[in-house]
Parts: sequence; structure tokens; C-alpha cells
Amino acid sequence: MKKSKVVILGGKRGLIGKALSYVFSKDPGYELILHDKSEFDVLDFAKLTEYLIDIKPDVVLNAVSYNLPLSAEENPEMANRVNFELPKKIVEILKHWDTYLVHFSTYMVFDGKRNVPYAEEDKPNPKSVYGLSKLKGEEALINGNLTKWFIIRTSWPFGPWAANYVDDIIKTVLENDKICACHKNIASPTYTLDLAEYTQKLLKKKAIGIYNVVNSGQASLCEIAQEVINLLGRHCVVKPVVEEDRSMQGKFPEYGVLDVSKLIDFLGEKPRSWMLALREYIFSHYKNHVE
Ligand SMILES: NC(=O)c1ccc[n+]([C@@H]2O[C@H](COP(=O)([O-])OP(=O)(O)OC[C@H]3O[C@@H](n4cnc5c(N)ncnc54)[C@H](OP(=O)(O)O)[C@@H]3O)[C@@H](O)[C@H]2O)c1
Repeated sequence: MKKSKVVILGGKRGLIGKALSYVFSKDPGYELILHDKSEFDVLDFAKLTEYLIDIKPDVVLNAVSYNLPLSAEENPEMANRVNFELPKKIVEILKHWDTYLVHFSTYMVFDGKRNVPYAEEDKPNPKSVYGLSKLKGEEALINGNLTKWFIIRTSWPFGPWAANYVDDIIKTVLENDKICACHKNIASPTYTLDLAEYTQKLLKKKAIGIYNVVNSGQASLCEIAQEVINLLGRHCVVKPVVEEDRSMQGKFPEYGVLDVSKLIDFLGEKPRSWMLALREYIFSHYKNHVE
């Protein structure tokens, strides 16, 4: 059987990229091709073009992202370069090929001023430089005349092998008897390995368009911290705080829950709850710390 060649941009170091690399590497139908920053910089568009022409991949998964909303406010050029110009360039390179492009985006394209989950067709209204740069990246695919593409919007990813907020919570819980966590913002915590599995399922079923991919349910950081404490069996008090970072002046949407009805209709299955996913993460990656 001929294997599909899959290039994962961001697959060696990114949180979601690493989960994608793990899941795709387990499937014998795919040949994984990863590169490192030391080989070339993806923002060197001439090198990127050369690289993709040389491989002629069947699938490109773009998990590269300037993912620092705070810094993006100070450095909009870099946010735009990575989150908009890069996907635009990839679309341009793939336009005349039969390659599938999968791109990752965020709940931060919405303003978060509501209290029912956002569906794919809801009107974006980003409040931050980061959100706007990600929206422009989405538009590069939507208007790019590709025949095979989809965008995955997700929120609050956590998982193994790269820094993330759940690891920070776990570390604090293990080392302290009190943890301060924001209770104001609510979103859909998402296990990166579930996200990667759904990416593969969408690809195999030839999805086109935008898909929300998150674990079921919603939570604030307070609720996640409490669940971590319960799963680890530790004594730690959660102290709710309102503002996670005053310097962002409300640029993080207060409500970032994503509706997965379209995913359920298309694949015929509902993602498990974030609590079940968190349990699996803690029991497989922090087993020695469970009391
Ligand atoms: N993390 C979140 O809270 C969150 C929430 C919702 C949606 N998402 C979406 O999920 C996707 C992946 O995010 P993630 O959490 O996996 O992010 P991540 O862990 O920060 O990974 C981002 C990847 O992009 C690469 N990258 C960033 N800037 C670069 C640059 N200037 N030049 C070359 N490579 C660069 C990084 O490489 P190096 O490590 O080598 O720099 C890394 O491989 C993004 O589309 C993001 O919008 C993330």
C-alpha cells in the first residue's frame, strides 16, 4: 500500500504539533515528514517552497502559530507573519496540487460576549491582535481556492511533551497548599491527543471547511484546578481570582466554549468530556504523583 506523505509543520516542538506527530506516526498508512528549525525557518518562504516542492506531500498539517496573545499586542508584525502570511504562503504553494491542507485556529477569533457555545458559522469578532491574525489566517484558506482543506478551531489545549497550563496547575498543586485560579473566563479544555485523533478522522473522511474540535463540556481554570486536585488526591485549596492578567485589558474572550454539533454530525461520535480526558492525561503522565 502506498503511504500518504504527511508534513507536520510545528510537529517537532509545538504542543499540538507533537500530539499530531505521535498519532500520525502510529498509523501505517502515513509517512511522517518533520523538520527542525535548525534545518530551515518556515518563515523563510523561499526555503519553505523548495522544501514542499521537493517532498510533494499528500497532506500538510500546519500547527505553527505565534501563540503568545500578550506579546502579539506588542509585536503585531510577527503575529501576522506567522499566523497570516505563513498560511497564505502555504495555500499559494499548494494551490495547483492535490495536497490536503489542515490548519489550526482558535476560539479567540470570537469576542466571547455570549453564553452559548460558538458554532462554526457564527460571526468572528476578535478583540486582540492575536485573534485578528488567526482570523486572517483562516481567511487565507477559505478564500484560497484549494479543493482539499479544513480548519480546526480549538480552545485551551493541554497534553504531553510541551508546556501548557494544565502542567502549570499540576506543578502548583504538587508544591503548594493553595492555588489561585481565574474563575471569570470559561472555555472548552481540550486534550491534544484527542484533538490529533479527530484531526486524523476528519482527514480520512475528507472533511472540507471549518470544524470545532474540543472535548465536551466547559470549565473555568478554577474548575480545572479543582479537578486536578481531586484526581491527584492532594490537599490544596483553590482561591478564585477574577482577572488573570490586567495587562491584557479583557482581550481574552470571557466565553470561549465551542459547539461540536457539526463534528458529531459529520463523524457520528461525540468527543469525550474534558474531565475524562484529563483523568487519562494525569493517570498516564503523572501516575507517580497520584496519592
Ligand atoms: N495553546 C493554546 O492555548 C491554543 C488555544 C487555541 C488554539 N490553539 C491553536 O493551536 C495551534 C497550535 O498551537 P500550540 O498550542 O501547539 O502552540 P505551540 O506549542 O506554541 O507551538 C507552536 C509551533 O509554532 C512554531 N513557531 C512559532 N513561532 C514561530 C516562528 N516565528 N518561526 C517558526 N516556527 C514558529 C513553534 O516552534 P518553536 O517551538 O521551535 O518556536 C511551535 O512548533 C495554533 O494554531 C493555535 O492557534 C492554541
